[in-house]
Amino acid sequence: MAIGVGLIGTGFMGKCHALAWNAVAPVFGDIEPPVLTMLAETGERLAQERARQLGFRRSTGDWRALVTDPAVDVVSITAPNEFHAEMAIAALTAGKHVWCEKPMAASLAEAVEMHRAWKRSQRVGVLGYNYIQNPALRLMRKLVREGAIGRLNHVRVEMDEDFMADPEGPFGGKSAASSGYGALDDFAVHPLSLLSGFVGQIESVFCDMAKPYATRQVEGGGRRAVETYDIATALLRCAGGVSGLVCANRCAWGRKGRIKIQLFGDRGTIAFDQERLNEVEVFTRDGPLETQGFRTILMGPAHPPYDRFIPAPGHELGFNDLKVIECRELIAAIAGEPAAVLDFDAGLAIERTVHGLAESFRSGAWVKPAQA
Ligand SMILES: NC(=O)c1ccc[n+]([C@@H]2O[C@H](COP(=O)([O-])OP(=O)(O)OC[C@H]3O[C@@H](n4cnc5c(N)ncnc54)[C@H](O)[C@@H]3O)[C@@H](O)[C@H]2O)c1
Repeated sequence: MAIGVGLIGTGFMGKCHALAWNAVAPVFGDIEPPVLTMLAETGERLAQERARQLGFRRSTGDWRALVTDPAVDVVSITAPNEFHAEMAIAALTAGKHVWCEKPMAASLAEAVEMHRAWKRSQRVGVLGYNYIQNPALRLMRKLVREGAIGRLNHVRVEMDEDFMADPEGPFGGKSAASSGYGALDDFAVHPLSLLSGFVGQIESVFCDMAKPYATRQVEGGGRRAVETYDIATALLRCAGGVSGLVCANRCAWGRKGRIKIQLFGDRGTIAFDQERLNEVEVFTRDGPLETQGFRTILMGPAHPPYDRFIPAPGHELGFNDLKVIECRELIAAIAGEPAAVLDFDAGLAIERTVHGLAESFRSGAWVKPAQA
């Protein structure tokens, strides 16, 4: 039977989810098209307008009506972080599956509550860590698993964007403490989601955070003290002695969507950058020294599920396509099939690492991922 979809929020990620729900059946060709049942926004008129634009049958200005609607089976939560816990818990309690954007919640206590509600519900709970769905990342995981670079000893991920780099930019929601710590939970959760495919358990962490600008302009004049940290640097000690470094910066002029991953092993290195998301660089110390060097592998139909989108190599997938892949994996999870998703167990582990990092910043000491 076709799945009934409810979507909460229609901003950056709401549109991305809507595109994914619209595209998943035509792209993959192996599932019944989901029914885009209902959309919720902050007011009735806005909800109506967005439902028309994004192809949803009904709309509401009250997300609670959506999560209890009998025709909705799965709820996409793309509202700001501070709503995730309340919305996800209500949806799970009403018996719906949940696809919630990252980070899981604004606080560890809320993430733990969400996790409890998910366990009780026996429904599928998936977090929106779309970057792990890239065929390039699948290839990297396969290469590491097969020993292409030998034994992994160091992983390094840098996530940089410049949308908050202007010191004269306005004070927005992301500068308020209600949104979380800043780059740590807004950005570093993505590198942590990516690392989960390469390293085992994160055993202890150390963190520094920084505010490049102490104040920002407020509408109507004056300036307000910035409450979040736009820069975060994290050191990780992972199982098996693998060392990790994660840097996140929302004020990195010139960087637009950089997630640079470097995986160093005792036989070689694999590198990737989200700004060139169809390319994987591999170095192995094979052959004569004079011809050794990185080679670039360009994604194509040999790298599933690229083939479901485009039959020709090198024509390139984009950011929104990763959400379509994530959506197909979510549908597999709902059908009880094996699925490459980060569920609420994996999501809570990421939250524990993030809050452990925040604790380390406060105490100035190495700490274990947070318990609550
Ligand atoms: N996975 C990713 O790569 C990625 C990228 C960006 C943002 N995000 C996450 O997606 C979430 C949303 O971020 P965004 O950039 O789309 O924000 P946004 O501000 O563009 O959109 C948020 C939307 O939620 C709506 N909304 C707010 N309160 C609501 C309520 N009570 N009921 C119904 N709708 C409500 C807003 O009107 C808006 O349309 C955040 O949790 C963010 O961390 C994830």
